[in-house]
Amino acid sequence: MKILVVGSGGREHALAWAIAKSPRIQTVYVAPGNGGTALDERLQNIAITDPVALADFVEQEHVALTVVGPEGPLAAGIVNVFRARGLKIFGPTREAAQLESSKDFAKAFMQRHAIPTAEYQTFSDVAAAHDYIALKGAPIVIKADGLAAGKGVVVAMTLEEAHTAVDMMLSDNKLGDAGARVVIEEFLAGEEASFIVMVDGKNILPLATSQDHKRLQDHDQGPNTGGMGAYAPAPLLDAEGLEEVRRIVLEPTLKALRQRGIDYRGVIYAGLMITADGPQVIEFNCRFGDPECQTLMPLLGPELGAVLQACALGRLDLAPQLSIAERCSACVVAAAEGYPEAPRKGDAIRIDLAPSPNHQLFHAGTRRDSSGELLTAGGRVLAVVAQGDDFDAAFAGAYNGLNQLDYAGITYRRDIGHQVRSGG
Ligand code: AMP
Ligand code: GLY
Repeated sequence: MKILVVGSGGREHALAWAIAKSPRIQTVYVAPGNGGTALDERLQNIAITDPVALADFVEQEHVALTVVGPEGPLAAGIVNVFRARGLKIFGPTREAAQLESSKDFAKAFMQRHAIPTAEYQTFSDVAAAHDYIALKGAPIVIKADGLAAGKGVVVAMTLEEAHTAVDMMLSDNKLGDAGARVVIEEFLAGEEASFIVMVDGKNILPLATSQDHKRLQDHDQGPNTGGMGAYAPAPLLDAEGLEEVRRIVLEPTLKALRQRGIDYRGVIYAGLMITADGPQVIEFNCRFGDPECQTLMPLLGPELGAVLQACALGRLDLAPQLSIAERCSACVVAAAEGYPEAPRKGDAIRIDLAPSPNHQLFHAGTRRDSSGELLTAGGRVLAVVAQGDDFDAAFAGAYNGLNQLDYAGITYRRDIGHQVRSGG
């Protein structure tokens, strides 16, 4: 069987690597892939990104399943294109992907279906937005409606920050169309965790809880990024907490999607704030998180490809049991100097990390030049993921691994997992 993974980041490298574990899988294509997927002989990069051209490729090569990594192609409707041609694809349609691509859509959806989330209002008028902030006071949270690559959320601790954020998005158009409307919502106090599940339109398959680290620097300082590291599972949610999230968030979400005629087949990633009043949804993502996916994939058994396929067919009930190792997994991202604003690129990468079943090296912003040399080519460059019987062992593995890598300007956090490491 051949499978195609769409995307070029660490998430897609990890997905392709995990899918390729099954002896039933002949080739995993990655479109367009990166320097790491180019190096792995079981994976094959293809230089296509246009959805229609990808659908043509899948037909010609008899690819059994396409798995979409990032939100961009989902929001652009790649699933609509594939489904219209009868091709099997894992991911939600453009309409369903609005759960992630429009904060206003997601908030209205949650409010209508009584899914717990912060109180909010949506504005495109600057003066009205300022008035609302004055009425509600700080702290308060300002969110661009559209996709803004992690830059669209301002948690304003003061009124001044809140007003500045509104001006930045609505008056100065710093985020373009994504910030032409803003959601202004109540600040939630608590601890964050995410819960990632697969859904096939009817059934829910829980995968794992995890915690990522969005800020660039240690002690959660500096700008927001796509994610500088993660760990799984997140001990904040015990079995009872997970059951509650399933009952009050995931089941009502799936039911509401069905009522709207949306046959959602793919990932639902619920970003949660665990407050004194119980879990509240901060955001939905309609795909695996990155780096959460890199953290999770090494825990999954070789049935993954078959399970993804069953999910895309709407038949998770017929899928083989997906084994999930009861171990701790830790991921630390190595970024480029200047990330996230203006990452430097083109530096030679040295890798001395020996392969081991207890750690993995996933590539994100890397490429091979014409002579085969590996160069930095993006903001998040590489990630080391390691597993252990506890988080201390897992993080020791990840940081040891990181010490075996080098390139000019290598940048990473030293405190990933401080919540779960002893002395952290
Ligand atoms: P989002 O892109 O919606 O996940 O927001 C990015 C980050 O902003 C989250 O991971 C939280 O740390 C923070 N955040 C978002 N919404 C809220 C809220 N209502 N209260 C407190 N923090 C929030
Ligand atoms: N790591 C957060 C995300 O993928 O949205």
